[in-house]
Amino acid sequence: MGVITNLTRMWFTRTIQPFTFKREYDRLLPFAECENLGLYVHIPFCKSICNFCPYCKVPYSAPLCNRYIDALIQEIHLIGRQHKGRKKVTSLYFGGGTPALAANRIKEIVSALNEHFIITEGIGLELHPDNVRVELLQTLKDAGVTKISIGVQSFSDKYQKLLGRKKIDTAALAAALAAVPFETVSMDFIFALPGQRYNDLKSDIDLAFSFGANHIAIYPFIDFTFTESPVSAMPKKEKRALLDAITNYCFKKGYSRNSIWTFSSEAASNYSSMTRDNFLGFGCSATSLFKRQFKINTFDPDAYCKRIHSRKPATSLTLRFTRRQRMIYWLFWTAYSTKVRAADFQTFFGVPLKKMYGFELWLAKQFGFLTEHKGSYEMTLKGAFYYHYYENFYTLSYIDKMWGIMRKEAFPKEIKL
Ligand SMILES: C[S@@+](CC[C@H](N)C(=O)[O-])C[C@H]1O[C@@H](n2cnc3c(N)ncnc32)[C@H](O)[C@@H]1O
Ligand code: SF4
Repeated sequence: MGVITNLTRMWFTRTIQPFTFKREYDRLLPFAECENLGLYVHIPFCKSICNFCPYCKVPYSAPLCNRYIDALIQEIHLIGRQHKGRKKVTSLYFGGGTPALAANRIKEIVSALNEHFIITEGIGLELHPDNVRVELLQTLKDAGVTKISIGVQSFSDKYQKLLGRKKIDTAALAAALAAVPFETVSMDFIFALPGQRYNDLKSDIDLAFSFGANHIAIYPFIDFTFTESPVSAMPKKEKRALLDAITNYCFKKGYSRNSIWTFSSEAASNYSSMTRDNFLGFGCSATSLFKRQFKINTFDPDAYCKRIHSRKPATSLTLRFTRRQRMIYWLFWTAYSTKVRAADFQTFFGVPLKKMYGFELWLAKQFGFLTEHKGSYEMTLKGAFYYHYYENFYTLSYIDKMWGIMRKEAFPKEIKL
């Protein structure tokens, strides 16, 4: 697996040079020059910790959470002040952990961000199903949240148990969603769990839309090496049949595919913090993507607070891209939306896509991964599966290695991928 990802990386970036992340930080973050910039805020607290989850999170305690949010607000002003006036950004997403646990402080965080940014495409926030209650949803709505994403994982008791999660109170969930509407109500599911069948997922999808979702994300289960989950991933062939079956079911129901894993029942509903040309992240483990670099904040909440209190950015590692590396990064995450427009590539990099990757695009069309129409490339079902397959490789070779190290060391010296 390592050999395949390394060879693919060398081919696409036209160099044997790996992606090298160094223990470096810059006091000034170059976000002012970035168009189509999204904001991300990480809140790393959970009421109970799931053994399959790779994200940066710690058990919730009110004093710890409050101390963390004080530092977060300090970070927002420290970085936000670097740009004169208010910078236009696309969206703001709160991820975690479980950011809904800090519901009573979301308004304060949004106000701090509003001093430096103009958010034009709404505010999204993640919740655990236990958080979906009228009062909490109303608090979020009053703070300006327009999209919510609920980590359901499965409505079936069997799979909730397998994942170590407790039974969902679906009546309370549906009642709260009916009482407090949001522009997007997304629900997360995990698929490719052992023994899972098409009918299990079909039932999850139907229940999600009947309980008030207008968007769903169906993620393949990833067995990270550093997590302690006893669950193992489904074999490739079975997984492909399942992914194709649920995709076809969603199309038959008239849902549109907004990305590899997401489907929506209404044109305006979307939930994605990833498909952005550039983003600026706040909080521990948050990443930032600029024109020529990628930065990751420390994963350690204490080290994060200390850095911010000393008025320095909380960056743990910095990757300075070569031009081709940045192109590959752009293509990989743009392809996540299942569509790539050559004109967007040219606007971002100032060179035609065909000039840089004409042969690869031709090859992808020959293999039946892509179709092309007037400079717009669209992934076929087969292409979507192989993208997913490669993303799985990439996640296990790159993210698994990096997050595995970052969980243990607040400021590692160097990571080569
Ligand atoms: C930050 S959590 C969502 C909010 C909330 N903390 C919760 O769990 O309900 C983000 C999502 O990542 C997905 N996820 C977590 N671990 C995963 C894994 N090992 N494989 C695939 N998806 C995973 C789950 O669907 C989860 O809802
Ligand atoms: S899946 Fe959600 S609730 Fe569970 S540990 Fe991860 S972030 Fe926390």
